[in-house]
Amino acid sequence: MNAPDRAFQHPGGGNLHAISFVRGRVGPQSYAVAEAGSQANGRSQRPRGPRRRGRFIVLALVIALGVQVPLVLSLGHLTGHAWPFGALGVLLTAGFLSNLLGPRSIWGAPGPWRLYGTLWPFFIWWTASLLFLLIVPLALLVAELFSIRTDHALLGALGLAVLAAFRTLGQRPRLQERDIFIEGLPQAFDGFRIAQISDLHCGPFASGPRVAGWMAAVNRLQPDLIAVTGDLIASGDAFVPVVASALGQLRAPHGVFACMGNHDYFADGEGLAQAIAAEGVTVLRNRGVEVPRHGARLFVAGVDDTWTGRHDIDLALAARPAGVATVLLAHDPALFPEAAERGVELTLSGHTHGGQLGLPFFARRVNLARIITRFTSGFYRLGNAALYVNRGLGTTGPPVRLGVSPELGLLTLRRAEPGTVAQAAEAAE
Ligand SMILES: [Fe+2]
Repeated sequence: MNAPDRAFQHPGGGNLHAISFVRGRVGPQSYAVAEAGSQANGRSQRPRGPRRRGRFIVLALVIALGVQVPLVLSLGHLTGHAWPFGALGVLLTAGFLSNLLGPRSIWGAPGPWRLYGTLWPFFIWWTASLLFLLIVPLALLVAELFSIRTDHALLGALGLAVLAAFRTLGQRPRLQERDIFIEGLPQAFDGFRIAQISDLHCGPFASGPRVAGWMAAVNRLQPDLIAVTGDLIASGDAFVPVVASALGQLRAPHGVFACMGNHDYFADGEGLAQAIAAEGVTVLRNRGVEVPRHGARLFVAGVDDTWTGRHDIDLALAARPAGVATVLLAHDPALFPEAAERGVELTLSGHTHGGQLGLPFFARRVNLARIITRFTSGFYRLGNAALYVNRGLGTTGPPVRLGVSPELGLLTLRRAEPGTVAQAAEAAE
């Protein structure tokens, strides 16, 4: 089922890294503040100051602890002793924070002791707490309506929260298929299938076997072309060889193309680009190439990272032949209005993770990414230009997605006659 087609007169210009609480703007000379300790590799990033870092830690602490309060109080109500659960929560949170306070590379490669001794225990506990927070009001309402004992309602909510937590942490990607209608698309590209993956965030929470599984799933789709729209790496260089090797497994007759995301410069971005290019991926950093098919052409371009100010959309499109339909890989969907202005028929983005944390069943409208942008996931249209925002495969911050499943995108290009795009898209709904 296709996602609803949307038209915006005043699309948002901000961008969001869903959980990092770090914002940026896209503009001629503007770039966002980078995470402390990241490496800009040749172009300077503004380091995060101690005050900003302090605010981030305080916010993380408030959210980390606040979410646990209902669970701790309920366990106290059920057992008569809240303090052991409170102490457990504080201990787990302290373990988690010890990773935030260390050098950034700890997030990139925390090592088995930190990963299994501090991070995973905290995230399992925290995810169960978050789900309990959402479930317990409903459970208490049901108890009130049907005269069920409060203890039983709390136990039921607890059981559901634990089950849902493990289900949430073990989510598998969902295939999202969509037809994209492009006016004047050559007949040779009618039915051309593009698999899009995004935001792998290869790292401690998306390591080699998991990423390899994603690549195998993409290959099983047998697409004509594969687009990888940035954030290949979570942070640091430890997983660069892992993700490069995994991307090297991708197969498509018209090639595998990638653009860079903001997290790719939390590692040695130049080294990453070289490593994936060596594996056969065409890395599009403010450039484009022609993709031929049966005598016709498609222009496939990619724009570099907005957070470090490397993006240059005009340079990316400079080699575009007149009248040739264009697909632009742009990690940050905030570039969509600029791409639409320049006549780009299809922009493929990621970056938002669909919000990563959203209200179950209403997550497309109610999610964290909506704080910053309207382009949070799925399909959008601005005139004749289309945007597809992939929810991504990995996660940032907590390895948790709530109401927003990971995604494999499969987009089929469809030829539309001039002036018929809106009607064709409508007919496909
Ligand atoms: Fe991302």
